[in-house]
Amino acid sequence: MRSFLYLASLVAAAEPFWNEPDTGLETFLSGTNWTEGTQPALKDIRGIPDFDFAARQKLDNQQYSFYRTASAGEYSYRNNLEIWSKVKFRARMLTDVTKVNETLATQILGYNFSAPIFIAPAARGAYADPERAELNFVEASGSENTLYTAALYASKTIEELAAVKSNNTLNGPQVIFQQIYTNSNLSVTWDQIARAERTGAKAIVWTIDAPATSVRHRAARYDTTNANAVTSALTWDIYDQMKNRTSLPIIPKGISTVEDALVAIEKGVKAIYISNHGARQLDHSPSPLEIAYEIHRNAPEVFKKVEVLADSGVRYGADVLKLLALGVKAVGLGRPFMYANTYGLEGVTKAIQILKQEIASDAAQAGIHDIQNISPKVLNTRALEADVYIMED
Ligand SMILES: Cc1cc2nc3c(=O)[nH]c(=O)nc-3n(C[C@H](O)[C@H](O)[C@H](O)COP(=O)(O)O)c2cc1C
Repeated sequence: MRSFLYLASLVAAAEPFWNEPDTGLETFLSGTNWTEGTQPALKDIRGIPDFDFAARQKLDNQQYSFYRTASAGEYSYRNNLEIWSKVKFRARMLTDVTKVNETLATQILGYNFSAPIFIAPAARGAYADPERAELNFVEASGSENTLYTAALYASKTIEELAAVKSNNTLNGPQVIFQQIYTNSNLSVTWDQIARAERTGAKAIVWTIDAPATSVRHRAARYDTTNANAVTSALTWDIYDQMKNRTSLPIIPKGISTVEDALVAIEKGVKAIYISNHGARQLDHSPSPLEIAYEIHRNAPEVFKKVEVLADSGVRYGADVLKLLALGVKAVGLGRPFMYANTYGLEGVTKAIQILKQEIASDAAQAGIHDIQNISPKVLNTRALEADVYIMED
């Protein structure tokens, strides 16, 4: 009995984990004619986490589990979502922020985009929209002038995605990047890269954090575990070979330490992509905020020498600003766009618009007048300092 009471008191004392914070959506819906198991009207979606709730209403358990799954005990998944609150804003008041909207636009590898956000590569878009799948990602990114990074295991082929690119963006023809996994038979990989080049992709995003199948219990229940079932040998030597095969910039995706960021620079990359793959690969891998902070503390020059992209656990404009303040150039989201795609093109477009609006509003609230040049002083990072890894000389 005593041990039961002890356990009960521990549970009561533990902070609950919110997959989506309670923002009043369900309370609101209960006052309408919405019924459980149907999607709320898109107009009632106010924030990015609402799309997760909405997707659960539409997708079957197997489909939702594939999108939602993370590895092992999902400690990194929860950390990805919760870490943001450890870093508080130090908002300066009475700084003129009236022109902040004009500073949302950015460049990634020399291409122009309307905002420092992008759709991260994620497989199996057809679960959300069986007919149009990732075509919605291409089209929404085209009309919103943001970047789309196509996944190798997208439901649509490289060619099908290229066929719906817009010709009328800030760059003229729409710019998309192509993600690849290297196959243990490298000739398959070279062929995939050649197809991406032929169809006009402007960079190869090379996923380096999936050297083996990952432990994903939630999805394994439905026999749906990995997008990348091909266990691949991953080495920097393959990067050298790839460089000889393509003139496109190669962006290693899945950098999680300062050491690997530095090796990537030595190898001559133009950009790196920090990520823990949405916590889908290795449980207890760090969040992008922790990785960016590790780099910022040990080798801040990295952010000047190469462009740094980042993703994992980003759900709000404020999260984006925190990464930008540490020197990140553009921030990706995976699950949120997969969930938004349950509303098709309109849903994906709305997700991009929500993020743009939140980034600009929160920048103003935080006293940031230029989103492209945010001082790290806008952040109180003392809580990260306690855990950060410091490289030895
Ligand atoms: C359903 C799903 C499929 C994914 N497929 C891929 C993939 O094929 N290649 C890849 O590099 N990353 C893949 N990712 C990881 C994303 O690119 C990204 O790193 C991750 O989703 C970011 O975390 P977030 O979902 O919390 O935003 C996938 C993520 C999800 C949710």
